[in-house]
Amino acid sequence: MINDRHSQTSRVDQYTSGPMLYSLLFLSCLMLLGVAALPPPLKTIPSTHPSVYLHGRWDDNVGSWWAGTGFKLNIVTLHNLYINLGEHTTQPSAAVAVSIDGGPYFSVNFTEFSNTVPLGDSILKKDTKAATLVEINVQGWQNNRIEFKSVSVNADASFIPYKPKGRVFQSVGDSLSAGQYLPLGVNQAWPYLVARKLKVESKINAQPGATFIDMESYGNAHGVSYQFWKTEDTGYIWQQDHNYTTAWDVRKEQPKTTDLVIHIGANDASHGVPQEEFIETYLTFLEKLKQASPALQNVYILTPFGWPHEGGVVDYYYEGVYAKVVEEWKRKVGPRSSLRTHLVDCTGWIAFEDVFPDNIHPNVQGHQTIADKLVKVVSAK
Ligand SMILES: *[C@@H]1O[C@H](CO)[C@@H](O)[C@H](O)[C@H]1NC(C)=O
Ligand SMILES: *[C@@H]1O[C@H](CO)[C@@H](O)[C@H](O)[C@H]1NC(C)=O
Repeated sequence: MINDRHSQTSRVDQYTSGPMLYSLLFLSCLMLLGVAALPPPLKTIPSTHPSVYLHGRWDDNVGSWWAGTGFKLNIVTLHNLYINLGEHTTQPSAAVAVSIDGGPYFSVNFTEFSNTVPLGDSILKKDTKAATLVEINVQGWQNNRIEFKSVSVNADASFIPYKPKGRVFQSVGDSLSAGQYLPLGVNQAWPYLVARKLKVESKINAQPGATFIDMESYGNAHGVSYQFWKTEDTGYIWQQDHNYTTAWDVRKEQPKTTDLVIHIGANDASHGVPQEEFIETYLTFLEKLKQASPALQNVYILTPFGWPHEGGVVDYYYEGVYAKVVEEWKRKVGPRSSLRTHLVDCTGWIAFEDVFPDNIHPNVQGHQTIADKLVKVVSAK
């Protein structure tokens, strides 16, 4: 024991008595280890920083809910980007869609801790003073929780706050708006495509299987007319760490909704919800949203795309009901209101080749078809 200690001490003495040799040794060690031994310095800002533009529904913990919730960043001299997430992130991962400088979305699985965002080669060719726009949204209507803690970038990069567009589309719907079954989820769904094409901001609250009236339906504890006013989507019921909802205050949203787009009713119809009850729910929802949205200018009420089958047959539901909603709503709002309500007749918009044959939900092409037609309608109004 004693001898060992003594020999250790004498070794240390040797080093201290030869500082020159020691530093040479240290330097060559570093050279052998290469650059990897020195991680590049990073700059980190919290997700609550004003330079992070959050959109969609986030809880108090900056945890995401609802398909399409995400954030935008504008960064100058960007070379490395890491998104740091906390433990309340879907395990093992949550799929997000990433777009760089408005380019096509691609999918990345985000996990707890640090996630490297692939920026592509175009970033290298950029003028070092030019800002890079990074858009990241959760894809899924389930397994869509990211607890967004912070953003890290190369230390010489700088953040410029993203300036949101003035026109803001709020979509409300079910699986046909949430992008269920699509490879990139909601990012390939028509509400998102329309917003991108029209260069407007987008908010989407769409829940597969959910009715509009407030009832239990296909795994959803509530209907969309209820859940819309909550931070959490109906998936909260399956979360051990967050098995509750919190109120969402639409009045506090920035930027404010200017256009409301609703396509809903497939699940109400499948449960046999009577038209009168459906219409009542619709009108109550519109009234509540109008009260909470002082910037609202247009309401688009879409009739069903329907369920297309082989041979040109398309099953529709609630025929004539949406026209009734529009009629009654216009009467309620009155002719002097600046709010404009449009009935969008989607009959014949999609055919069998526009849907997945096994679940008859729109496929990638089907969503594009719907988006193109709706863009035309909106641009003509
Ligand atoms: C993400 O994870 C899912 C499930 O494990 C997998 O099917 C998918 O291919 C992954 N996506 C990417 C982009 O790695
Ligand atoms: C969430 O709470 C409900 C009761 O409100 C319960 O039925 C359900 O099993 C809970 N879910 C989880 C994942 O704990």
